[in-house]
Amino acid sequence: MKVVVASDHGGYQLAKQIGVLLEDLSIDYTNIGSDCADSVDYPDYGIPAAERVAKGEFDRGILICGTGIGMSIAANKVKDIRCALVHDVYSARVTRVHNDSNMLAMGARVIGEDLAKEIVRTWIGTTFQGGRHADRISKLSDYETKQEA
Ligand code: RB5
Repeated sequence: MKVVVASDHGGYQLAKQIGVLLEDLSIDYTNIGSDCADSVDYPDYGIPAAERVAKGEFDRGILICGTGIGMSIAANKVKDIRCALVHDVYSARVTRVHNDSNMLAMGARVIGEDLAKEIVRTWIGTTFQGGRHADRISKLSDYETKQEA
């Protein structure tokens, strides 16, 4: 599995720690986020990361900003992206099982490093259930296709 990680200034420190976890899990990842505390704009990092997932260059993406909210809004503007804003382990599991989320957003000012790592471990390791959930996701794709027309 190939994973892209991106963050703004609010999330760059946690993003680095998530990189360490992905290395421990032997997951191939690339960090295209900000790498310092200088103020930047989350769409400049979240949208390119989402586009690279949508194109298939990466299987999944992990986005981190102060709250996770801006990054999740930005990523969900990109067709075929299902970005879940998650701050608990239950949602990390269920968003994979039900939503087949291909991106995860977290807020570094909302949760601590240990919980963020547990969320990532769970989200990476959980499989989509398909079936009725796939039918629901098709409705989202159909809507996106109609918007393009
Ligand atoms: C930056 O201060 C902050 O607004 C950003 O990291 C994020 O929380 C936006 O949703």
